[in-house]
Amino acid sequence: MNILLVGGGGREHAIALKLKENKSVTRLYAAPGNGGMADIATCLPFKATDVAGITAWAADNAIDFVVVAPDDPLCLGMVDALAEKGIPAFGPRKNAAVIEGSKVFAKDLMRKYGIPTAAYAAFDDYDQAAAYLQQADMPIVVKADGLALGKGVLICQTREEAMAALSSMMKEAKFGASGARVVIEEFLTGPEVSVLAFTDGKTIKPMVSSMDHKRALDHDEGLNTGGMGTIAPNPCYTPEIAKRCMEEIFLPTIAAMAAEGRPFTGCLYFGLMLTPKGPKVIEYNCRFGDPETQVVLPLLQSDLLTVMLSTVNGTLAETDVTFSPDAACCVVLASGGYPVSYQSGYPITGLEEAGKLATVYHAGTKATAEGLVTSGGRVLGVTATAPTLREAVDKAYQAADMIYFTNRHMRRDIGQRGLAALEGTEEKA
Ligand code: AMP
Ligand code: GLY
Repeated sequence: MNILLVGGGGREHAIALKLKENKSVTRLYAAPGNGGMADIATCLPFKATDVAGITAWAADNAIDFVVVAPDDPLCLGMVDALAEKGIPAFGPRKNAAVIEGSKVFAKDLMRKYGIPTAAYAAFDDYDQAAAYLQQADMPIVVKADGLALGKGVLICQTREEAMAALSSMMKEAKFGASGARVVIEEFLTGPEVSVLAFTDGKTIKPMVSSMDHKRALDHDEGLNTGGMGTIAPNPCYTPEIAKRCMEEIFLPTIAAMAAEGRPFTGCLYFGLMLTPKGPKVIEYNCRFGDPETQVVLPLLQSDLLTVMLSTVNGTLAETDVTFSPDAACCVVLASGGYPVSYQSGYPITGLEEAGKLATVYHAGTKATAEGLVTSGGRVLGVTATAPTLREAVDKAYQAADMIYFTNRHMRRDIGQRGLAALEGTEEKA
C-alpha cells in the first residue's frame, strides 16, 4: 500500500513509525514531514494546509490511503477533497472537524445533548459580552471561537483581566478571525486528562489515557505551549472514572455527532477535567494530540494501519485495539524562548546515544548538508517506556540529557505530578 501522511511534527513522526510496522506499507510519504522522518518516509515539499496540492498529488501518485494528522487541513476539508477523488483518508470530514474548529459549536453540542462541560455563554457582539462579564463571578475563562494554536484561551482572575482579554479578542483582533466570536465560561478545577479515541462514527474505542504538561516552565509556570511533555497512562484516570467518561461523555458525543448528521470518524481527542462534580469536557480536538501521541502510540500493541482503516470502513467494533500495561514518558526538547521567539539552525548532537535508551521523535528539525539542525520551537520529543512510570520518567530524562543543541530547553518535572498522584502524595487543591 502507498500511504501519504499529512503533517510534520513529533506526532506525525510517531504515527509514521507505527504505520511502518505493517509490512503491507510499501511506500510512505509525508507532506511535509521533517528532518527525522526522512529515513522512513519520502518527504514532499507541501504545506500541510495545501488541500488542492496534496489532493492532486495523491491522485497522481497512486496513493491508497491518506492519514491527515493536523487540525487545519481537517477543518479545511482535506478528507472531503480526497473522498471526491476516491481516496480514503483517516480523519473527520469538515462538517465533523468543526467540533474542534468552533468552540461555540462544541459548547452548543454539549448543552443540547447534556454532555458535562463548564457553564458558558457565547457572544459575537462585544458590548453584550462586556455586559455579561460585568456581572459574572471571577475567575473566568475567555476563549476565542476558532483555531488559535492553543493560545486562544485566557484564564482571568479579575474583571479587569477579563475585560482586557475580551478586548484583545474582539476589538484588537489579536487572534484574527478566530476571536470574532468568543465563549466565556466557568472556571473549573481538578486534574486534567487527555483521552484519544478511535471512532468509526458508531463505535468508539478509547486509547490509553495520558497527561500533558502545557506550560513552558517547571511547576506549571510560564506561558501555555503546544505541550512540553506527556505521560501515559494518567494515574488520575481510574477505571471508575473511565467507565463514567464512556457513559457520560464518549458515547453521547459520538451519538450526538451522528444525530446532527456529522458522523465523526478518525481520532477524537477529549480534553477532560476531573472536577469535584465529576469529569467534564474542557475541549475536543478532531485529531491526535501532540505530544500525547508520542506516549500513546508506543504503547499500542495492535496494528495502527488496520485500526485506522477500520475507522474508515466502519468495522472498528470487530477490530482489536489493545495497549501494553507499561508506562511511557515523553520529554520535549524545545528551543529556548519557545513559545514566543527563538533562534533556529543549531546543530543537534547525541541523537544516536539517546536512541539506544529511548525513541527520539523529531518535530522541529531539518536535515542539512552539515547534519541535522533545529528548525522550530518544539525540536524533539524523547519517549521512554518501562514497566513503571518512575522508570519511564528516569529513562526519558537520561536519554534527553544525552542530546544537545544551543539554547536547549526542557522541563525537569514531566511526570512528577503523575508520580505524586500514584504515590498518594499529591497536594490537595
Ligand atoms: P484549551 O485550549 O481549551 O485546551 O485550554 C487550554 C488550557 O486552559 C486547558 O488545558 C486548561 O488547563 C485551561 N482551561 C480551559 N478551559 C478551562 C476552564 N473552563 N476552567 C479551568 N481551566 C480551563
Ligand atoms: N497537546 C495538546 C493538543 O494536542 O492539543
